[in-house]
Amino acid sequence: MSISVVILAAGQGTRMKSTTPKVLHEISGKPMLFHAIDAAQKISNDITVVLYHQAQRIQAEIEKEYKNIHFHMQDAEKYPGTGGAMKGVNVKHTKALILNGDMPLITMDALNALIQGGADINMSVIKLDDPSGYGRVVILDSKVHEIVEEKDCIPAQKEIQTVNAGIYCVKKELLDKYIPLLNNENAQKEYYLTDIIKMAVEEDKIVHPVMVEEEEFKGVNSKLDLAHAEEIMQRRIKTALMKSGVTMRLPETIYIDSRATFEGECIVESGVSIQGATHIKSSHIKTNSVIEDSYIENSDIGPMGRIRPQSQIINTHIGNFVEVKKSTLRGVKAGHLTYLGDATIEEGTNIGAGVITCNYDGKSKYQTHIGKNVFVGSDTQLVAPVTIPDEVMIGAGTTVTKDAQQGDLVLSRSAQKSIKNFFYKFFEKA
Ligand code: UD1
Ligand code: MG
Repeated sequence: MSISVVILAAGQGTRMKSTTPKVLHEISGKPMLFHAIDAAQKISNDITVVLYHQAQRIQAEIEKEYKNIHFHMQDAEKYPGTGGAMKGVNVKHTKALILNGDMPLITMDALNALIQGGADINMSVIKLDDPSGYGRVVILDSKVHEIVEEKDCIPAQKEIQTVNAGIYCVKKELLDKYIPLLNNENAQKEYYLTDIIKMAVEEDKIVHPVMVEEEEFKGVNSKLDLAHAEEIMQRRIKTALMKSGVTMRLPETIYIDSRATFEGECIVESGVSIQGATHIKSSHIKTNSVIEDSYIENSDIGPMGRIRPQSQIINTHIGNFVEVKKSTLRGVKAGHLTYLGDATIEEGTNIGAGVITCNYDGKSKYQTHIGKNVFVGSDTQLVAPVTIPDEVMIGAGTTVTKDAQQGDLVLSRSAQKSIKNFFYKFFEKA
């Protein structure tokens, strides 16, 4: 942990065309900046995030999720650019890894390669057929000489295909020395962090280029980039899960949040969406089901089941068109067309088709408790708050408004009556 991390996230991100700050746009359920913070936390206990545009909003979001992150406000009016972002940043350790907040696809392998070795600066480079938009890495006598931003390139430099991927590991003493010396004498009138390379080379410091994978260093600048990064992240998440033993049918149609976890033998069918910090253990999730921030164990869900946040589904069968919200079901069968919200339901209980917990009176939410071995007939409405103890039968079509006693049959139907031959009279058929 003898390394500091600085994450640059002060840029405006105008190309996102959004009121949400660029780095808070989500990829696989997490703001893209959090992907960078999560990677940083694996290697460092000294993480600084540099902010400027919508700084308060971004800082507040980070503080909700993480402790011990330092913040640095860039003076972007006076010192714009990536070098300006580093002005005044104080790192604790002898080396600092500088990351970008809009590179969510970076992997631990790449970061580990960048923090290793004894060079004064390790810098990430990629070779590209089309280098446009990137800073070109000028190499002389097989040594890095400088980085020239595209807008400052002379025509010959524009042809260079070795580009700066934008992430560096720099010794603290070099940062402390070179950052105050940066100037903005360039096409963009910005303070370029990349100018420290030339300064280091001039003082015979060791600048080591580390070849990296283009995919990992893709910056997300537009909604198109966002969708593309999402595809890559999803492919990685599902590949890892399948390798760990999860069966997936048509995985390209499945969405799985980066915070979701699996245990035991699980099957996930096509079109399923697993959102939030859901944990699934030894269960079968059938076609087109949606599960959000819930715990599923030894159960089968769907097809077309919907499990909303804070539900616990254990040893349970959930069939089609069943919606469950903030409820705990253990050993339950709810096969068809049901809404179970703010409920606890115990072992051996059968929920008939069309059963609804009426959990909301227009002002507040109320609880429904159903005990063991209860038979809830089809089309029953349970008007909460209501408690049904163990071993009760509720007749089909009942509106339950009062608590029942163990052993009861509960019925609220009006008596059925028949009028002989009414049909024939009404339609005037003989
Ligand atoms: C930068 C590099 C370029 C490299 C490219 C790789 C410089 C001068 N150039 O260019 O050589 O090829 O990355 O993607 O560094 N940021 C701030 N404050 C600012 C400006 C930017 O915090 O004033 C942050 C951004 O939020 C972003 C990161 O720095 O996370 C990179 O900024 P960006 O504008 O994308 O840099 P490029 O111009 O693409
Ligand atoms: Mg820029």
